[in-house]
Amino acid sequence: MSVECFVTGGTGFIGQHLVAYLSAKGHTIRVLMRRPERLAALREQVDNLGGCATRVFAVAGDLVQNNLGLSLADRDVLKHASVIFHLGAHFAWGLSMEQSRAVNVEGAKSVALLAAEQKSRLVMIGGYMLKNHEHLQRIGIDPHHPELTNWPAVYRHVGGYEGSKLEAHFATLEVMSAKGGEVTVVHPATVCGHSRTGHILDGQPLVALIRNLVQGKLTAVPGTAKHWLPLVTVDYLVELVAVCAFDPAMEGRELLALDDQTPNLRELLAQVAQPLGLKSPKHHISLRLLKLLLSIPPIAWFLNTKPEALDFIQTTRFNTTAVEQFASMHGIAKPDIRQSLQHTATFVNSYYLAKGQAI
Ligand SMILES: NC(=O)c1ccc[n+]([C@@H]2O[C@H](COP(=O)([O-])OP(=O)(O)OC[C@H]3O[C@@H](n4cnc5c(N)ncnc54)[C@H](OP(=O)(O)O)[C@@H]3O)[C@@H](O)[C@H]2O)c1
Repeated sequence: MSVECFVTGGTGFIGQHLVAYLSAKGHTIRVLMRRPERLAALREQVDNLGGCATRVFAVAGDLVQNNLGLSLADRDVLKHASVIFHLGAHFAWGLSMEQSRAVNVEGAKSVALLAAEQKSRLVMIGGYMLKNHEHLQRIGIDPHHPELTNWPAVYRHVGGYEGSKLEAHFATLEVMSAKGGEVTVVHPATVCGHSRTGHILDGQPLVALIRNLVQGKLTAVPGTAKHWLPLVTVDYLVELVAVCAFDPAMEGRELLALDDQTPNLRELLAQVAQPLGLKSPKHHISLRLLKLLLSIPPIAWFLNTKPEALDFIQTTRFNTTAVEQFASMHGIAKPDIRQSLQHTATFVNSYYLAKGQAI
């Protein structure tokens, strides 16, 4: 059955793949675009990613504007959307609380309000740190009483991006509960490139890691042998997100999209290094020392790393039973994460690095 979908963040990395997947399934996709004049480029990309460009349309708007900056005509068109996928976010390190809140919290609330008012199912993309309960507790968030959170203190602790993602999650659930809307939340781990093509957009955290390795800036493995950067491939994630949207049993539920077969960080770097013929680091550097070094601006500049990025490298293991069961119930195959890492490294090297490098 073909349905109308509204997607925010459809021009971003996960969004492009989601739009391609949904359009290939025959759905009509309307994408919130700050620059709707880029629709032709998005359509070309959707075709390249295996989607159907003619089913993709632009809706001019911006998450920071009142009512998303939608025209009355577009609001009327969007009333037909059965599902709203909210992926739009200002995804960057070093954001102030004001900057990140305006897009990530206020924007998410506006999207939730739209979904609830017009009775569209909301599928929201959170982040896996929301499923790390020890971490939430450490930074002062009680998931059962988020209203007691001192948000400015959380932002000071974890930075603008993560702080706003955490706040957005609870704020959205509150809007949906107050308005009686239907919501499903998917919490992805750090997203790896496509399992077969390695496709990933520049600016993604994994690209920064690969770039640092290729440029010789990662001479030691951050953390210990127990530290890992949990990953999920973009194609597996997108299939989970899309299938969630049409499964009535997922209404009011949250799904952690994380591949627990992701190797530890040392092995991850070895997988990335292998297809590029590089040596990967064997020795470790403590995260505490690395953070201290990163507080020295020339070192931070040289290492091309932001302390916020290090928070995602951790020792916590997650329970992935729910996602494994959901995937098997819907026949969604989980790709091999080691191969996916190798394909991603090859893609990053060919498209973002090789031109400027002698490799
Ligand atoms: N990638 C990951 O590793 C990861 C992991 C966990 C969770 N997530 C979450 O997944 C979602 C998508 O991430 P991504 O990696 O695909 O991000 P991305 O590539 O940085 O894309 C961000 C998207 O948000 C849009 N956007 C930003 N500011 C906007 C605004 N003011 N109004 C309207 N649209 C705006 C961008 O549109 P423009 O084209 O106009 O810039 C773009 O489409 C985000 O919510 C992110 O927090 C990502």
